[in-house]
Amino acid sequence: MIEQQALAYQQGVLTFDEVPLTEIATTFSTPTYVYSHQGIVSRWQAFDLAFGAQPHLVCYAVKTNSNIAVLQSLAQLGSGFDIVSGGELQRLLHVGADPKKMVFSGVGKSHQELTLALQAGIKCFNIESEAELYRLEALCAELGVQAPISIRVNPDVDPKTHAYISTGLKENKFGVSFDVAFTLYQYAQQSPHLVVTGIDCHIGSQLLDISPLKEAAARVVQFQRRLADAGIVIHHIDMGGGLGINYKATDQAPTPEEYVCLLVEAIGQPDMELLIEPGRSIVGNQGVLLTRVEYLKQTEDKHFTIVDAAMNDLIRPALYGAWQDMVSVFEPTQAQVRETEVVGPVCETGDFLGKSRQLAVQAGDLIAILSAGAYGFTMSSNYNSRGRAAEVMIKDGQMICVRRRETFADLIACEQMLDA
Ligand code: LLP
Repeated sequence: MIEQQALAYQQGVLTFDEVPLTEIATTFSTPTYVYSHQGIVSRWQAFDLAFGAQPHLVCYAVKTNSNIAVLQSLAQLGSGFDIVSGGELQRLLHVGADPKKMVFSGVGKSHQELTLALQAGIKCFNIESEAELYRLEALCAELGVQAPISIRVNPDVDPKTHAYISTGLKENKFGVSFDVAFTLYQYAQQSPHLVVTGIDCHIGSQLLDISPLKEAAARVVQFQRRLADAGIVIHHIDMGGGLGINYKATDQAPTPEEYVCLLVEAIGQPDMELLIEPGRSIVGNQGVLLTRVEYLKQTEDKHFTIVDAAMNDLIRPALYGAWQDMVSVFEPTQAQVRETEVVGPVCETGDFLGKSRQLAVQAGDLIAILSAGAYGFTMSSNYNSRGRAAEVMIKDGQMICVRRRETFADLIACEQMLDA
């Protein structure tokens, strides 16, 4: 039932990396995100090791969980990073990550963001359109520098995942077709300001079946041959992120080893540097959102469990209809279990964290929402003027507060009344 391996009941209380979650709630209050340092490190290492002798760089997708303690932990392992904004770049520079291991993705890189990345000297710009290529080239001319580039190709492969997070279909805004990419590579090849470095591709997220990736890789390799025939040499292939995780006991996500093995085989070039941009599969199951039950409410139709976390803290259920398992922090006995809808205090019917859950909880009890390490805190907001949750990292048995809970002063820090 409990998908996250670091979770276990000890003397009737749920522990995470051996630390009782009751202790975290007492020390830091709720709602609080809790992460396992050890878990994050070992997932990253699993990807890294799986490549064996193949030249590679595991570029953690910063958007997934961008807390500076997470980024610092990965930077210390020698991780690469996939960024999508100037803010993410600045976070990485702040923790001392190596710009030479950063790739920059995204369809809307601003003038300011490109400048920042050029000045930092990143490994590669993953270009998503013709207009972006020209903007980058002009900027390089202005600054008197050269930019290493990949073109993000859209292989038109169905990743068979949620429509909002599928990116590799031709109707999606991401990347360009192979034909457009070919023209852009020819253009870049003759530009004194652009250095053709790689090919980039990312077909979607939460892939539980990775066979579409094999198809995408095959198309990328075929395209690489077309470029080679035109005298354009590629130095790395970036296949993006996307490996899914188990959100439910019935999910069967491939392992990092299976995923890397599939890519290495599909690319079939032992000397080629391979890049991947995993996010969810590194941090997703290394975090929980700890929340306390405020009230139980029985209506004529339904039983509700009203907790102190809400859609502003964890928007995945509301936005994607995503399922995240949840368990009572106090070990339940079968007799007490009832079906309930777990909802937050936000004034919207869409504010639910879980429907039709079998839980045994009373007001005041604690619930751990699982698989919350990815796209949890990073997608949170201040909706309903709710301060964002605290974040705690467990490392070597210690509970370290890596982001304090927001206060009212934080909420209005950037605002101003008309008459002060
Ligand atoms: N590389 C690129 C270019 C991406 O757009 C993404 C995710 C990744 C890598 C990392 O993908 P991952 O390994 O985590 O699947 N908020 C959604 C997921 C959005 C994914 C956006 N792109 C969710 O909560 O499910």
